[in-house]
Amino acid sequence: MNKPTSILFIITGLLALLLGIFFGAISALQFILPGFFEVLPFFKSRPLHVSLVVAWIFSAAVGGIYYYLPNHCNLPLYSKQLPRIHFALFILTGLLIIISYMLGKFGGREYWEFPPVLAIPIIMGWVLFGFNYFKTVMKKKEPWPVYLWMWATGVFFFLFTFSESYLWLLPYFRNNVIRELTVQWKSYGALVGSWNMLVYGTAIFVMEKLSNDKTVALSRLSFLMYFLGLTNLMFGWAHHIYIVPSAPWIRHFAYFISMTELLILGKLIWNFSHTIKQAKDTYGNIASRFMAAADVWIFINLILALLISIPAINIYTHGTHITVAHAMGSTIGINTMILLSSCFYIIEQTNKATGSGPNNKLIGWGFWIVNSCLLVFFISLVAAGIIKGYYTVENELSFQEIMQKTAPALTVFVATGLGIFAGMLLIVLSALRKLFR
Ligand code: HEM
Repeated sequence: MNKPTSILFIITGLLALLLGIFFGAISALQFILPGFFEVLPFFKSRPLHVSLVVAWIFSAAVGGIYYYLPNHCNLPLYSKQLPRIHFALFILTGLLIIISYMLGKFGGREYWEFPPVLAIPIIMGWVLFGFNYFKTVMKKKEPWPVYLWMWATGVFFFLFTFSESYLWLLPYFRNNVIRELTVQWKSYGALVGSWNMLVYGTAIFVMEKLSNDKTVALSRLSFLMYFLGLTNLMFGWAHHIYIVPSAPWIRHFAYFISMTELLILGKLIWNFSHTIKQAKDTYGNIASRFMAAADVWIFINLILALLISIPAINIYTHGTHITVAHAMGSTIGINTMILLSSCFYIIEQTNKATGSGPNNKLIGWGFWIVNSCLLVFFISLVAAGIIKGYYTVENELSFQEIMQKTAPALTVFVATGLGIFAGMLLIVLSALRKLFR
């Protein structure tokens, strides 16, 4: 296939998204139908789901950056060969991770449950990406727009926190539970911050292009958002070490920072949607629609995040489906919506040349199905979490009885999860058709 590497990353990301949701649907069905699809039990389907959707986030963000630098930022890549090697490493490692999960070969931790040796090609790929990125952007003489700073920070901190998340391999960390837990969870918190930098940078980039307003990415508000994001990345992990004895102020400080970051991002997109509304001709386009959806999801997630950060509520919600609602609400509602907006922006740009736009009607259907199902999916997870949290803390019922009480909410979760899968099929297959042409 003779496609630019940037587009190959995006195609791979979209395929990983579909496959990831497929495994998510299997894990969800296993919640309500014990013994369902026994060839792939929950302990295999869950990491397959999580790793593939995380791969979607990275692949779409990285593909976008490789595409935007030479095509829109007037910054030809320092090397055209390195992205190809990066892509080959990405595909090879991805396949090895899928095979090792299928064979039940684990050995890693949390998001990286695969055998730790596979971290080596991942690090190599990111070093190539980082080297090429910095060599390319250093050529820019004028002040950097905020998204170039955000992408640079995301690349650097990904490498830093990813390496940190493997410190448990050293006996100095492994032999001390507190030390190991602190470093482990701290690194995962900061890791999410590093991919948010890549995704939020992409959001600001796409908004700048859609609104044709260059001041957005050079504005004080954008840089405030960047510094808040950076502070969040460096300190906002504290709530991840909740059960490790630590001073309460660290936790409160961390929550405060993560909330302010979301508020500022919401404000930026809000400003953007006003600009877009004024320019009615561009408002109908798909990229703007996904960006507007991300805006709504920022506020919904912000409300949940604020609520679960209240200590009296947190005792009930900790470790329940509410944490999963928080994780999926933000990775689907915010990250995926922004990245789909970026994918469709690229598709619309490449199709301008051929004069054919994507099939807007099908995507429009997919858009509404995904967003309405996601809302009910999110609410049902929160409801299951409240039921489980309440009865666990009150200690009145057995585990079995609690599971029975959560069953109706989980059934709704599964049904709407299948709806998200169907909606995403419409969106992603339309995008792939255009990208393959
Ligand atoms: C873009 C789409 C999606 C993304 C980005 C996504 C992301 C995630 C993430 C990050 C987690 C880990 C949560 C945690 O560790 O707390 C997770 C777990 C999970 N997801 Fe998804 N998800 C997506 C779609 C779906 C769909 C459509 C379904 C159901 C049909 C689903 C079912 C599940 C299940 C069952 C779990 C495990 C929950 C648990 O362990 O209690 N996901 N997902």
